[in-house]
Amino acid sequence: MKKLGLHEVKKEFLDFFKEKDHLIEKSFPLVPKNDKSLLLINAGMAPLKPYFTGEVEPPRRRMATCQKCVRTGDIENVGKTDRHATFFEMLGNFSFGDYFKEEAIEFAWEFMTERLEVPKDKIWVTIYEDDDESFKIWNEKIGIEDKKIVRLGKEDNFWELEVGPCGPCSEIYIDRGEKHGCGKETCKPGCECDRYVEVWNLVFSQFDKDENGNYNNLTNKNIDTGMGLERMAAVLEGADNIFEVGEIKKVISEVERTTGISYGKDKKTDESIRVVTDHIRAMTFLISDGVLPSNEGRGYVLRRLIRRAARHGKLLGIEGAFLSELSSFIIKLWSEDYPELRENEVKIKKVIKVEEEKFQETIDQGINILDAYIKETKEKGEVVLSGDKAFKLYDTYGFPLDLTREILEEKNLKVDENEFNVEMEEQRNRARKAREGVGNGAWSKDDFSHRFKSFNTTFRGYEDIKLSSEVIGIFLEDEKVSKLSEGEEGIILLNETPFYGEGGGQVGDTGTIKGDNFKALVLDTKKTKDNVIFHLVKVLSGEIEDGKEAVSQVDISRRNDIARNHSATHLLHKALKDVLGDHVNQAGSIVLPNRLRFDFTHFEAISKEDLAKIEQIVNEKILEQLEVLTIETTLEEAKKIGATALFDEKYGGKVRVIKMSDYSMELCGGTHIDNTGKIGLFKIISESGIASGV
Ligand code: SER
Repeated sequence: MKKLGLHEVKKEFLDFFKEKDHLIEKSFPLVPKNDKSLLLINAGMAPLKPYFTGEVEPPRRRMATCQKCVRTGDIENVGKTDRHATFFEMLGNFSFGDYFKEEAIEFAWEFMTERLEVPKDKIWVTIYEDDDESFKIWNEKIGIEDKKIVRLGKEDNFWELEVGPCGPCSEIYIDRGEKHGCGKETCKPGCECDRYVEVWNLVFSQFDKDENGNYNNLTNKNIDTGMGLERMAAVLEGADNIFEVGEIKKVISEVERTTGISYGKDKKTDESIRVVTDHIRAMTFLISDGVLPSNEGRGYVLRRLIRRAARHGKLLGIEGAFLSELSSFIIKLWSEDYPELRENEVKIKKVIKVEEEKFQETIDQGINILDAYIKETKEKGEVVLSGDKAFKLYDTYGFPLDLTREILEEKNLKVDENEFNVEMEEQRNRARKAREGVGNGAWSKDDFSHRFKSFNTTFRGYEDIKLSSEVIGIFLEDEKVSKLSEGEEGIILLNETPFYGEGGGQVGDTGTIKGDNFKALVLDTKKTKDNVIFHLVKVLSGEIEDGKEAVSQVDISRRNDIARNHSATHLLHKALKDVLGDHVNQAGSIVLPNRLRFDFTHFEAISKEDLAKIEQIVNEKILEQLEVLTIETTLEEAKKIGATALFDEKYGGKVRVIKMSDYSMELCGGTHIDNTGKIGLFKIISESGIASGV
């Protein structure tokens, strides 16, 4: 067997598949694009899903990558064992409707035996239970004897994610010899012991699993293979486990140096050293790819990793923050393969530092209180901490449930999670009720989409602010009616309207609607998620009747004020990125006639100096009188020309790109002024955090 380290295995693999005519792509970011089914990229195939399903044409039918991956399903076990990890790299070769089983198996065999020089007799394989075709290839073509081809069921040899391309698979194992085994007669791949290590998974990807769990046949038969880089390097280096691999050992040494505690001396401290060693890699790569700590989704995964590592640092006797420094070491070791780490170094270190320091305050206070709770629980002779206590820790002191759980487990205690969840739900209800106080009657209810489904309305307000159209629906409270009389307030729908329905942060238009014998004020305009526009009106005189003609007129001076603020929002967005960094992303906004508010992701309060800089840039761009152009195009084209957008949002067929000379380019459905000079003056009134990381 060749003795190869982490970086060498990677190079060998990618070189081999390049020779086999594969396109070598660099790793995709850890944050999935346009894929709501996945929090983080957890396999080499995950970013390539659209190529497998045929939704997008691949640049070549053969591809190979070394993909950064994060899996946190087993995070509680990371540290406890020497097998679990959250961050790893996965090597993979892929065929999108090109080669299938036979070549995939032949490539794998050639790579293993000729490139890595793994002795043939050490290789075992598993196949899906009724996959006779694979059996034949391994047995007759490759020459592996019957007894070394193990048939396993769906649990082991069928590879799938929640949704998407999947299929039966064949796994390659290396026999590490009897000394690693359990000694049982029945010992073979699939056995719980450490003798046979699975190093490569060849998936024959021929189904597309949908949300309902149906396996639909894919038009193309594909190949998706995955080889855990760390695990393969461990086998080739003759290391016992992934924490003994050369490159990873360097990280362990750095943790030893920081803490003054040696690895391999004590079960408890080894566990903590492994947690820090694993999590520091995961957090460094996650932040580099744009994740920021928060209480939800991938932000929460990151927060949890930082907090868990910080706590284990404390268990190792470290006072104060240390992770930020340690991340420099990761950047140094991995930036040759991943240059983005170097580019994002300042951000990575800062985000870790801010989060770690915040956590130090939480943890000291929380641990004291939890200790008191633990004492109380034990004195009462109980083994379960009540959920309301855990909730209080969470709600009042920001102490996360998973940390409470972990600390309790170390003392052989549990927490009543059902009770915790009940408390959490009650709190949510209280918050919901508080919000419902706003607005009244039919207007404040959110079920319009369903009610107005059968209506077709067209927005003409980009071009016209006054037009004549037909009344196609009238509602009074919840009921569809045929007319609205003087003094009444209700909802009316028009086949064509110049009124902008609230959306994308921009408020709805107001104005008037008049007919031959009626006059009404438009108090507000909204749209359903299917883009049906509807107006809240108050009849001033006469009667509005269904089917009658009406002339709509938008309040132009208010509309212009809104447009000024909307265009200013785009300039602000770009200026924030310029001053704070590219990680800044829109997280909501409100555009009103008298002010705008812009929510965005960032990890700390903005300094006075930076606020002044941002304000100045926006005012400069106003004074430069940049021309504002609207381009109607496709989503694909918008992406290509580099427009800013949350591309995982659903946009219809045609999209609008708002371009302010060369300074800003954003996807946007709102209304804008035609020259930034018309904004007038831009002034920041206040800045504050509204949620963690926002
Ligand atoms: N998707 C398979 C895995 O993750 C092979 O790449 O194991």
